[in-house]
Amino acid sequence: MLVTPIVTKNIATKVHRSRLLIAKSFLKDFCNCFSLFNCIFVVQIRLMIPQHVIASILDASRIEEVVGEFVSLKKRGANLIGVCPFHQEKTPSFIVSPSKGIFKCFGCGKAGDSVRFIMEHEHYSYPEALRFLAKKYAIEIEEREQTPEELVLQNEREQMFNVNLFAQHYFSETLFHTDEGHSVGLSYFKERDFREAIIKKFQLGFNLNQRDAFSTNALAKGYSKNLLLKVGLSTGTEERLFDRFQGRVIFPIHNLTGKVIGFGGRILTSDKTKAKYLNSPESEIYNKSASLYGIYFAKNAISKFDQCLLVEGYTDVLSMHQAGIENVVASSGTSLTTDQIRLIKRYTKNITMLYDGDNAGIKASLRGTDMILEEGMNVRIVVLPENEDPDSFVRKHTTNEVLDFIKANEKDFISFKTTLLLSETQNDPIKKAQLLKEIVASIALIPDALYRATYMKECSRLLDTQEQVLVNELNKQLRAKFKKTHGDEPISEEILASQTTIIAETPKIIADSCFYQERELIRLLLLYGNEEMLIDDVDENGNPTQFKDTVMQFLVSDLVADSIVFEHETHQKIFSIFQDLFNENVPANTQLFTAHNDDDVAQLAADLLATTYELHHWNNKNIHVKTEEMILYQLVFTSLYRYKEKLINIRLAKLENQLKETTDSDEQINLIIQIKQLKDVRRQINAILGVVITK
Ligand code: CTP
Ligand code: MN
Repeated sequence: MLVTPIVTKNIATKVHRSRLLIAKSFLKDFCNCFSLFNCIFVVQIRLMIPQHVIASILDASRIEEVVGEFVSLKKRGANLIGVCPFHQEKTPSFIVSPSKGIFKCFGCGKAGDSVRFIMEHEHYSYPEALRFLAKKYAIEIEEREQTPEELVLQNEREQMFNVNLFAQHYFSETLFHTDEGHSVGLSYFKERDFREAIIKKFQLGFNLNQRDAFSTNALAKGYSKNLLLKVGLSTGTEERLFDRFQGRVIFPIHNLTGKVIGFGGRILTSDKTKAKYLNSPESEIYNKSASLYGIYFAKNAISKFDQCLLVEGYTDVLSMHQAGIENVVASSGTSLTTDQIRLIKRYTKNITMLYDGDNAGIKASLRGTDMILEEGMNVRIVVLPENEDPDSFVRKHTTNEVLDFIKANEKDFISFKTTLLLSETQNDPIKKAQLLKEIVASIALIPDALYRATYMKECSRLLDTQEQVLVNELNKQLRAKFKKTHGDEPISEEILASQTTIIAETPKIIADSCFYQERELIRLLLLYGNEEMLIDDVDENGNPTQFKDTVMQFLVSDLVADSIVFEHETHQKIFSIFQDLFNENVPANTQLFTAHNDDDVAQLAADLLATTYELHHWNNKNIHVKTEEMILYQLVFTSLYRYKEKLINIRLAKLENQLKETTDSDEQINLIIQIKQLKDVRRQINAILGVVITK
């Protein structure tokens, strides 16, 4: 809190409320272009943990204690420092700030509050992390009472997990402790070079070659017929149960938390009339398209190496693990789904797909790479030598050879798809044009404009086509996509730019982004939102007066009066929260942002809070001000007007362009008037900024 506001007469502030009103109508007009981005921000908490309990968990959590449980921290000034648990480093660059309640690694960039730390470190979901902290601080979570239907469903699920656990034990017992298990199951695994450690780790098993050995045993242990049928361990009817897996080795399938949700069973003969693998059917607890084989055993390695290797089969996962390569999961022969991709996304953004050398289905599987791109993730592809799958390849090579091979042969999806399809076009120009469209269609899926631009360059090189041609095609596709989602809404250049941000075609629009000015305002709000400033103003009669405002009150009221909507989505989300606080007259609390369950908001807030603004820096710029309050005020004020100036510049550039293009004389006059008025406003703003800076 600031104590003695000292304010000298400040011309700038006088004009602030009165004369600059003129700017407002223009700004409003300008902002209308952006109304599409006026994303109404909805705080989405779908938890059963009541809001006030979340608040007390957040209040109780001391970041230094939470992190300290996992990282050894040393005091350094007001902060603590340690070796980052999220990436490999020797010199510590991981900072914990008890006063701000956040951590930030200056090496890998990870940042956040206590909840985020637990989510990242323990791979928990938001509610899971809250529960973890609640337990640590002995806070009771009174969850909403479950309805009778929910209770039945929950009991059912629990029973299903129980019977699966029982079956897994039974199959392991059979493998290790029966004659047939030994002579058939275990010797099969041995033949395939699977050692006991890996068999035990993955809880592999065996079921006797009988019609109902398992089912009979399970029934005797009290599991109901209905339950056995429901999880699919047994087939048949309530009258007569049969084992689904007969004379097969068993691969339990685990969910993220290590519970068995289903099984795969491999036949041991080469009987072509029977399926090589049988799998549990879908059930209340086994959703095939949302699970990945091996994820439970791979998740830590995936996040540690920031990469997930994707293979096809059970045995590929096992062999890789056995070789010490643990960041591997299998899609189990089916085509990849968005749910599976999101499962991986919890741990890394980088997926490398390993394909068999002779895989005829590579082309079909390109759909999977497109889906990965759409999730904003990076996908690379490695094709193994002919007639090898990961399992056979790993067994023939040392671990280092395998890793080197992957590194040397990894292709980004663009080079991969391009070379793959290019080989088919054989200089046929029509086919090549088609190929170009297809590649660009993949690029259009990438949400991040910068990545898109990089891939466009790469693609232009590989296809030996001018980048501009690709850019035009990309724009065409993005326009079509926009039309699909927005109907016939007019598409302004700004919107297109924010959609495409195509460097080659519209360099000006990127240069004319307010991104940095917006970010500065958001940073000031986050860092100094509650600080008070004493501001000079003029009353209705033109007499000098003063009023007190917090940084938040000052900025929010000013920006709202101009109906300004921030261009960048996360900036706008954060600003909307400030707007709500302002409307409800509640002081800002950084926790609201750093603990937000919108990842983008939490991450940006932690990032900005970690970089304290160096107020003293301003003293070196010949700004002769005496107190911190004044520096803060000038900082806020100039940031606000720099932003407005930028908005006007962008608007001006657009009008000037229109003027160049129009042939209608009425419109020309209209445009000239608007341009002149805007330039007047800009001159005023410059004058104000000049006064403030040199004062
Ligand atoms: N798969 C399946 N049902 C089949 C065949 C395959 O569910 N009838 C799934 C399995 O998850 C299998 C994966 O697809 O692991 C890949 O199939 P494939 O490459 O044929 O099997 P491998 O994993 O190589 O098994 P193995 O080495 O034992 O032949
Ligand atoms: Mn195989």
